[in-house]
Order: sequence, then C-alpha cells, then structure tokens
Amino acid sequence: MVGLGPKKPPSRKGTGSIADIPKDLKQEIANLERLFVVPTEKLKEITHHFVSELDKGLSVEGGSIPMNPTWVMSFPDGYETGTFLALDMGGTNLRVCEITLTDQKSEFDIIQSKYRMPEELKTGTSEELWDYIADCVHQFVETHHEDLTKLEKLPLGFTFSYPASQSYVDEGVLQRWTKGFDIAGVEGENVVPMFEAALAAKGTPIKLAALINDTTGTLIASAYTDTKMKIGCIFGTGCNAAYMENAGSIPKLAHMNLPADMPMAINCEWGAFDNEHKVLPRTPYDIIIDKDSPRPGQQAFEKMIAGLYLGELFRLVMVDLHDNHETHIFANQDIDKLRRPYTLDSSFLSAIEDDPWENLQETFDLFNEKLSITPTQPELVLIRRTAELIGTRAARLSACGVAAISIKKDYKTCHVGADGSVFNKYPHFKKRGAQALKEILDWPEKTNPKDEDPIEILAAEDGSGVGAALIAALTLKRVKAGNLCGILHPENFV
Ligand code: BGC
Repeated sequence: MVGLGPKKPPSRKGTGSIADIPKDLKQEIANLERLFVVPTEKLKEITHHFVSELDKGLSVEGGSIPMNPTWVMSFPDGYETGTFLALDMGGTNLRVCEITLTDQKSEFDIIQSKYRMPEELKTGTSEELWDYIADCVHQFVETHHEDLTKLEKLPLGFTFSYPASQSYVDEGVLQRWTKGFDIAGVEGENVVPMFEAALAAKGTPIKLAALINDTTGTLIASAYTDTKMKIGCIFGTGCNAAYMENAGSIPKLAHMNLPADMPMAINCEWGAFDNEHKVLPRTPYDIIIDKDSPRPGQQAFEKMIAGLYLGELFRLVMVDLHDNHETHIFANQDIDKLRRPYTLDSSFLSAIEDDPWENLQETFDLFNEKLSITPTQPELVLIRRTAELIGTRAARLSACGVAAISIKKDYKTCHVGADGSVFNKYPHFKKRGAQALKEILDWPEKTNPKDEDPIEILAAEDGSGVGAALIAALTLKRVKAGNLCGILHPENFV
C-alpha cells in the first residue's frame, strides 16, 4: 500500500495514503481491484487448467500451447568445452557473442556486442530483417577475426525467440510472430535458409549448428551451473518456459520410436495458454490489447503478463478513467500524449512502483515530463495503485505456469531459472511470484524466513548467449557419439 514500507525515505510534504482520497476515486480503485486482483482460488483454477493444456500440447491432437520439441536432448555436465558464436534475436535487442566454454568446470569467457532492433524492422520486410541481422553478425566477426575463413570452425547457436516447429535442432519453421512483430513471408517458413542466405550475401562463412528458443537456452545455461534447475523461464518483452520431458511422454513424437526415457527439452510457448478464453480473468483492457494487436486471438496469457503489454494496459486504464468515468481524472488537461498507443513501456510502471516518496513526487515528475500531465495528489494514489495491480497480476499469473509444469512433472522441490527485463527489473515481481506459488501449491509457513522455498525462481545464467553455445556443444557431442537423431546438417560440426 502506498506510503508504507520500511525502506521509505522521510516523507515529503503531501500524502500518498488511500485513506485521504475522495470517495469517488476510492470507488474507482475498488473497481480496478475487482478487475485485476486474482485470488488464490482463481490461481488454482488457472493452474489446474494449465496442467491439462500442457498435456494436450504434447498429444497428437495438439492444443493451443504448442509444446515444441527442441531436439535438445541432454543437460550439460559442466565439462563442455569449445568456442562458439551465438546470435540472440530477442524482442528488443540483437546481440552477437563469442563464447568459450573453458576447461574449468562450468566456466566460460564471453565477448559480445549489442545492437538495437529498430522498431521499423518489426513490421518491415523479411529481406530488411535478415539483411540487418546478417550485417550485425558480419560487423561483429570482422571486428574480432582477421581471417574470416577460420569462422567455419565456429558453430553458431541462433537464439530465435519465437514459436518455431523443429523436426531438427538446426531448422525452425516459424509458427507465428509474437511480441508485436509482423513481417510477411516468414510465418510457415524455415527461417534458417533465409538467415544463411543473408549471411552468404555478405560473404560471412558461418555455419549454423542449432536454432534455439531463449527459454531452452535459459534452462540449459542455468543447469550448467546448478543441477537443481529444472525449468527455464523468460519474463521479458514476451513470456514463456521450457523444461525437460521424456520422449515416452510426448505422444506426438511416438512415430519416431525414440527410447521412452530419452530426454527432450520442450519449448512450451505458454504465451498461447488459454487462447480460447476459458479461464483467464480478462478485463476490458486485455480485450482491447488483443483486438488492436497484429495477431488478435493469439498469446492470450502473454498479453496479460509480458513487458511489452504492461505499460499499454496501464495507459488504457488511464485513458478510460479520463474519458468515460464520472471521476474524469486529469480533468481539463490535454492528454494527447497519453493517447498514443504503446507510448509507455514497462519501465514506466517500474518507476511508479519504485517511487519512494510519501507524496509520490517521482510519479508526479514522470507524468509531467513524459506526458505533460499534472496529476493531483489523489490521482497519484490511483496511479500508484493501478501500477501495483497490473504488476501484481502479471507476477501472480506467471506463477500459474511454473506451478503447472511442477505439478505435471511432480517436482516437489527444484530451481527455476528466470531471465528477462520484467523478472530482473520490475519491482517486487519475484516476491509476488513466490507468494503466488506458495498459495497455489499450499506450502506451509517457513519456520525460518531465510529458508529456501521448495520451488525457487532464481535469476538465470545468460541463456541466449551461453545457453546457445552449450546447446551447440551438446549437439556436437551427439554428432561425435554418432547419435544423429534430430540433426539435419551434421557436416556443420566437422
Ligand atoms: C515467444 C517465445 C519466447 C518468449 C520470451 C514469446 O513471445 O513466442 O518464443 O520464448 O516470447 O522471449
């Protein structure tokens, strides 16, 4: 609640207390609470449905959660070695890395460059996208390698963080764009030849060893240093998880006659959970987000949780309260800047939730500077509570996915490696997620507050870089051992 908490600096003049705001705004806050608060019973209901949807995704009939087999078929043992390139195409940045897995157990060296993913590229043409990516890779290798012919010895792990069907680890047919991308001619296609052709056009002789999802990378990179890691999650621009399944529990792979106990990492693509809208408590704002997105009807779960959408949800609430409710917040002010879709990202909400002042001075400044809006003191209280509600709902719903995988796999205790801007930077996200997990799984109170929870969600190792290198190394190991299952181009490892 606003104004409470041990870490607050001495209060500045003014009050951020809900007790002091007018009745109509209090009513408005109560309405928002009714929309956004997800009680324990609802979390349990969602989790229950989630478990059955995970099963459905693995079945022959399939469901809306894709549950993509990734052909990553073992955990690392910490003794993997070699030098690899990794390319990470996330929702916001592009990163190229060179990673050396050293002789020291679980140790690695990394050099890397980050490039901004220009906003226009996300809705541009396929040629522009691959050309830009190949350019970044080319720049990186030119800077770090005098003799480009030696590059052929550096297998590349390409972290392509979108849903892709894989019959082999070194291919990936894009199922659909997510995270606001909308580029024609890529959905339904194998992205690897497009990427390789763009590299070839630049004269960059790189061999792709594996196409990887960021969650699988996170799972493998985290397990490299912590053997208790069982699930890899991303809570960032998008959201998703991967875990290790047994081939025998994947009915849709039965025709391949894999040994039943053979491990197979599954990229759940859980952002698509409840696309049928059976169980998630959607608000009118969630419905608008979906309707106005490039892929309506897709990624129902992700659209309530992921960083790309949190600021937009908040913006929609504010505009609605200004335009349509009796309270008319920001009355007689020009809210044109606030009317621009996607003008606020999740760091805006983070800053509101992080405001340490009793009078919410930083929130006041933020609204002034970014939106040219001057909120009153009671409006600031409403703003803060709205941010809390949206951020808390995201963390609590996220926990349903983690709980569902844990229940499905009967993990009573384990570590979950998590990465992404929301997990790493959004205030209280971890604490709120842990609280929800405790409610869903009915854990008893801890005798010592310092004790670990049975299932702990921890900051992961760099999945898209180190994880990609490790997956390339594990694939190489498999080629050497003569196990070519799920490998299309073993010659890339010679
Ligand atoms: C993508 C996933 C990805 C997640 C996190 C989602 O939008 O579909 O493949 O793992 O974002 O980056």
